[in-house]
Amino acid sequence: KKIVLAYSGGLDTSVILPWLKERYPGVKLVAFAAELGQGSELKGVEEKAYKSGADEVVVMDLRKEFAEQYCWPMLRAHAIYEQDYLLGTSIARPLIAAKQVEVARQTGADAVGHGATGKGNDQVRFELTYMALAPDLKIIAPWKDTSFELRDRESAIEYADKHGIPIPVSKKKIYSQDRNLWHISHEGAEIEHPDAEPNWEACLTMTVPPEKAPDQSEIVEVGFERGNPVSVNGKAMAGHDLLAALNEIGGKHGVGVTVLAENRLVGMKSRGVYETPGGTILYEAHKALEQICVERDTAHFKQQLVLRYAELVYYGQWFHPLREAMQAFIDHTNATVTGTAKVKLFKGRAMQVGAKSPHTLYDPQLASFSMEGYDVTAARGFIDLFGLPMKVAQQAKRW
Ligand code: ARG
Ligand code: SIN
Repeated sequence: KKIVLAYSGGLDTSVILPWLKERYPGVKLVAFAAELGQGSELKGVEEKAYKSGADEVVVMDLRKEFAEQYCWPMLRAHAIYEQDYLLGTSIARPLIAAKQVEVARQTGADAVGHGATGKGNDQVRFELTYMALAPDLKIIAPWKDTSFELRDRESAIEYADKHGIPIPVSKKKIYSQDRNLWHISHEGAEIEHPDAEPNWEACLTMTVPPEKAPDQSEIVEVGFERGNPVSVNGKAMAGHDLLAALNEIGGKHGVGVTVLAENRLVGMKSRGVYETPGGTILYEAHKALEQICVERDTAHFKQQLVLRYAELVYYGQWFHPLREAMQAFIDHTNATVTGTAKVKLFKGRAMQVGAKSPHTLYDPQLASFSMEGYDVTAARGFIDLFGLPMKVAQQAKRW
């Protein structure tokens, strides 16, 4: 009777508004658009939604919450999927879905829906969140409905043209993109060929190619409190402003671009280009601070744990008790990650070049080459015992 649809104004979600009207005669459609810092993408989204057949439109500005309640916890974890993906799409989906549930409650809807396909990760992320937070709501996913006649982006574009739906892509530029404050992803077209270098001119949006970055390097200083970024170059900022500022600086220097053939949760490999300029600077700065503030065994254990944490985020299991329990551990380790770190930006590279913290564990006296005040005999017995099992095992091989 009433569906709250996660609506972006993009092709995949635009075509399903008129289609839902045909599929469920008399249905009321609430288009829900989340402002996550997509840039100009959300301009005119309200008008577009009404034109495409929405009965109500709800737009929520979630930028601050997205940065501080979703990106920051993930940054404290230092989560990376398959070594190169900073999870920019994965982390946004649970927030969008959770707000959608809120809107469903407010508008008295009995169903929630999304425009993700049956071949991707996004469907899982949306639906797991609906299930966890509102198991009573029906889930509508047109791209998985067998009576949905659209099968690819080309036919979707045709359908949109026929129904007078305004869409942002032309048949030439046919990437599937997802943008927010943390990143932009690009999939489709030549990127689907694992052997082909992506067409940078056509796809790069938040960054310049390194070849076009300034010949002069730049150092940016990020301030952290308990693992959360709080300032840039000494200026205190709210999360969303801070991310926007770093995206600007990082984008100018072309940092944070990765190309990745990744393993989707639903089984197949897919290839994407990711631009995460601000996030990449933050990860580098956060790493520098953790290096001096977190004790060795704790740091090593965290590193292992976070491989699993990244999977949970990628799989859309943000509201899973395991993620929450891991978060408690992670946040404990980050309670002393306070201070500042400097990151140098140059032609596509972001490299930490210094960090300081009131909680630093780095002892210059201990680290230095000076033997002053150090028991020079202490290491002897340590090595004897540390090496004992290996020595015994190797000797046993000789008999
Ligand atoms: N492969 C990435 C992920 O699963 C990006 C997905 C982009 N989604 C989209 N609807 N364009 O997180
Ligand atoms: C989709 O299939 O809807 C986008 C890609 C993905 O979710 O992984």
